[in-house]
Amino acid sequence: MLDSAAKPLLEIKDVCQRYRTGSGEERALVLDHVSMTLNEGEIVALLGRSGCGKSSLLRIISGLAKPADGTVLFRGKPVDEPSAGIAMVFQSAALFPWLTVLANVELGLRAKKVPEHEARARALKAIDLIGLDGFESAFPKELSGGMRQRVGFARALVVAPNLLLMDEPFSALDVLTAETLRTDFLDLWVEGRMPIKSILMVTHNIEEAVLMCNRIVVLSSNPGRIAAEIQVNLQHPRNRLDPEFRQMVDKIYALMTRRPVPTAPARDGAFSGLGLGMSLPNISTNLLAGMLEAVAATPYNGRADLPALADDLQMTIDDLFPVAETLQLMRFAEIEEGDIKLTLAGLRFAEADVDVRKKLFGDHLLAYVPLAARVKMVLDERPAHWARAARFLEELEDYMSEEYAETTLKSIINWGRYGETFAYDEASETLSLENPQ
Ligand SMILES: Nc1ncnc2c1ncn2[C@@H]1O[C@H](COP(=O)(O)OP(=O)(O)O)[C@@H](O)[C@H]1O
Ligand SMILES: [Mg+2]
Repeated sequence: MLDSAAKPLLEIKDVCQRYRTGSGEERALVLDHVSMTLNEGEIVALLGRSGCGKSSLLRIISGLAKPADGTVLFRGKPVDEPSAGIAMVFQSAALFPWLTVLANVELGLRAKKVPEHEARARALKAIDLIGLDGFESAFPKELSGGMRQRVGFARALVVAPNLLLMDEPFSALDVLTAETLRTDFLDLWVEGRMPIKSILMVTHNIEEAVLMCNRIVVLSSNPGRIAAEIQVNLQHPRNRLDPEFRQMVDKIYALMTRRPVPTAPARDGAFSGLGLGMSLPNISTNLLAGMLEAVAATPYNGRADLPALADDLQMTIDDLFPVAETLQLMRFAEIEEGDIKLTLAGLRFAEADVDVRKKLFGDHLLAYVPLAARVKMVLDERPAHWARAARFLEELEDYMSEEYAETTLKSIINWGRYGETFAYDEASETLSLENPQ
């Protein structure tokens, strides 16, 4: 007898996928001999750029699509149709608008012929677990995007699957809602409170993968192949500002962009090097906000060709580029093939009022600009919560020229003031906490 517990929950062997064009011709391979396994107790990220075949693979695993070649074994048996032990959470939950939250969650159980009273009890439990208590009789249109997505989670959990597949489940939510749902979900997982054994989560977001998963499988693009597997052994709850966390993100980022990881901080050039040694261009927060607004508005609606945008804003591309790069550094935008594309945070910023903007800016500054986190830490640690600016200048000069150090410090002061991360007094040239306790 084979001991099924010792076997992987899911085995994917040499899976290939290709699609046909409208005229019936075969296109190039989308998935090229993808093999991986998933064991009980694991939460694994399938990480790759948009279009690399992540959703295609997930559909094959769930039995919703057939691969061109290769096999998928779930608990040792081939998957060729949707299986009772596998449930899926999609990017946004397709809820029935005429059904209440409770009825939407019960639906999957009804289809499985679960008796009515049992279905009700299980649905109520799942609703409670995922933080929707009190919303049982609400209709989808009465719920926020985050709450609707929670219904999607409840609907997947209620069937008590062994394996939960998630296809970019947080990517349609705004940043803060996404983070709340992520951490709520992660708490349930870490505490073992969900009726599931393993999770395979598709994402294009490196930080999300490092935050949540204990293993990351990186899928390359054109064709989709397994490019790397990375074990993440950081303790939960994980802290995005933890140097080990940042290092892992940088490593994976380099891997995905096939850029060598910089080993020593460079002495010049904006953003060269990682960490504290990164020099920052002197860009006003007005300009940053203005660019976010411009890209969010019509005709761009979130994505703009950089040269066209430069024309539009009557700037040279050389002036525009550092602005775009700063937005990218702070994760308000991504630069992709000559386009600037706003992230959800970027879009949210563009739509927000000034207080929300400042908060969001301050949060991103601390999370993504190591020097800002450093300044904050020094101010936090000091009993009177102030420090001379010169103190940081000296520190920066270990990494870069005097001139770059000055520009960098000036930028961090301006950005920190805007984000209300810290205050600066011109007369005494001192930094202090905005609201010392
Ligand atoms: N049903 C389909 N028919 C034709 N092409 C498809 C189909 N589904 C996906 N593709 C193509 O396959 C590639 C991978 O798509 P997908 O699996 O959705 O990637 P990802 O989820 O990583 O963004 C893309 O180029 C996409 O256009
Ligand atoms: Mg996809």
